Amino acid sequence: MHMHRYEKWWLTLGTGSLIIFLIILGISAFHQGHQPPSAKAYINPEQVDVIAPFDKPGLKKVEGKEWDYELVLVASTFLYNPVEVEVPKGSRLKIIATTKDVIHGFEVAGTNINMMLEPGYISEYTTTLDKTGEFLVVCNEYCGVGHHTMKSMIKVVD
Ligand code: CUA
Repeated sequence: MHMHRYEKWWLTLGTGSLIIFLIILGISAFHQGHQPPSAKAYINPEQVDVIAPFDKPGLKKVEGKEWDYELVLVASTFLYNPVEVEVPKGSRLKIIATTKDVIHGFEVAGTNINMMLEPGYISEYTTTLDKTGEFLVVCNEYCGVGHHTMKSMIKVVD
């Protein structure tokens, strides 16, 4: 089969780009550990209320970890528990969240914190809170008639 010289160049370029892309993706995922913030671990969605740490939702100060505070959050139609938390500015915060019923979202408006909360899975996100203010948490997955009322608040204070 005869192939034009330019055709060979294009094939080389295309295949080369694909290989480079896959290598970058592989290093990011397997070496640097970049993964979507959802579905990190499993949980029985019917037993969320009795399984730690979700039996005691809320904000906790922690010692000896890479983060200063843990926010354990349970979503259900149509609310988040806790409804509001206050965190000092400059803290490293780890959010650990799940849902008791259907799929909910967890989006902190005005930031790039955005997770999907899926029944049976635990979602996690670690961030540094370096700006004071009131950050609205909204559900961005349609979950039923009360979807638009589903919200929570993270207050970052001095
Ligand atoms: Cu929860 Cu929409």
